[in-house]
Amino acid sequence: MHAYGTARVNKEGHLEVGGVDVVSLAEHYGTPLYIYDVALIRQRARGFKETFQKLGVSSQVAYASKAFSAIGMIQLADQEGLSLDVVSGGELYTAVKAGFPAERIHFHGNNKSREELEMALAHRVGCIVVDNFYELDMLEEVAKERGEKVDILLRVTPGIEAHTHDYILTGQEDSKFGFDLNNGQAEEAFQKAVSKPSLKVLGIHCHIGSQIFETTGFKLAAEKIIQKLADWKEQFGFTAEVLNLGGGFGIRYTEEDEPLQPSEYVEEIIKEVQAKTKEFNLAMPEIWIEPGRSLVGDAGTTIYQTGSSKQVPEVRKYLAIDGGMNDNIRPALYDAKYEAVLANRVNDPVEETVSIAGKCCESGDMLIWDLPLPKAGQGDLLAVFCTGAYGYSMANNYNRIPRPPVVFVENGQAELVIKRESYEDLVKLDLPLKVTVKQ
Ligand SMILES: Cc1ncc(COP(=O)(O)O)c(C=O)c1O
Repeated sequence: MHAYGTARVNKEGHLEVGGVDVVSLAEHYGTPLYIYDVALIRQRARGFKETFQKLGVSSQVAYASKAFSAIGMIQLADQEGLSLDVVSGGELYTAVKAGFPAERIHFHGNNKSREELEMALAHRVGCIVVDNFYELDMLEEVAKERGEKVDILLRVTPGIEAHTHDYILTGQEDSKFGFDLNNGQAEEAFQKAVSKPSLKVLGIHCHIGSQIFETTGFKLAAEKIIQKLADWKEQFGFTAEVLNLGGGFGIRYTEEDEPLQPSEYVEEIIKEVQAKTKEFNLAMPEIWIEPGRSLVGDAGTTIYQTGSSKQVPEVRKYLAIDGGMNDNIRPALYDAKYEAVLANRVNDPVEETVSIAGKCCESGDMLIWDLPLPKAGQGDLLAVFCTGAYGYSMANNYNRIPRPPVVFVENGQAELVIKRESYEDLVKLDLPLKVTVKQ
């Protein structure tokens, strides 16, 4: 078993996280169950923040709450002095309910509604990341109506797409997000924005991809943007206060993944930004980043109970669990890979290879293919690691399956932060049919 954060095997041979026996958690809260290792989230947050401090670079590390948004999680981000990236009225509402300081909230989205912009301004969020011309016009109108001046970043697509070990340079990026940096769109947006008295352009934002294991893509993006900022300084006398390089730092899901440490990502990127700003004779802007997965991904573990199994002779054995694509859609959505152990018998020898099937009425509802495990039967618990990012936040009620609860564990204590959905919750928005049909 790979050692994630505080995860260890106790003397009963049970998985323990945050000093709490996972078997007892499953007994108490039922399964499926999401568990978060709070100490690991704190360690990751501090890893990013302390590296900026060590380098003497002004920064904001914004937790991308799309990875896992819940009041308890947002309060934890606040405890760690993180800023917050929200991408919808719902994520903003969660942050407000959590009492998160609005001035550290950055509001994203490629199709923000007028209501969402009004809500963001009413709560005085720190910054709006403007994605397109439609939004630029609407935001200006809303800000003018309210008699306010709003800080904005312009989201650009720098023509670099990065994913894991690869990055692709594209002259013109085929993306639904942001203003293209290469075809004059970003310039046009910048000129438009600076001409509006109700908007203040703080700088530029980009996000080049996800689950990225090296820094070349980030460095290339930073270089392109800094070149552009040098042009804008020369042409318009503009000095950017902020450069936001987004999130996307990779984590280890399986042994094939070899991510860098938070400090390594930050150090390498900062060195490049410092070198390029010096080369182009620009003031060093404040650097913002937006990690989601790398703050919470490997801190999350999902616990399931194993149930039915099916042997397809000479092909494979399917072992079903009491969850699946409802609580973790990533394998079905983009073939994501995970590792897992039997949480109640971690040290038992491997006896067979099984494929872990979810309980949804969908053949594609498979969590893990070809997993080596001891022979599992009734009462066994499967712990799937690294489910902390885009697990609960993408959870759904397909087949009217209630969403599992979320428990935070730290220093031997467990705290429920999201309750299990009930059947009553599932029907609470449904209304009985009023129309009757004469027989
Ligand atoms: C704009 C933006 N920032 C940050 C993130 C967080 O990315 P990750 O969870 O890979 O760090 C995303 C993810 O989609 C994003 O779109």
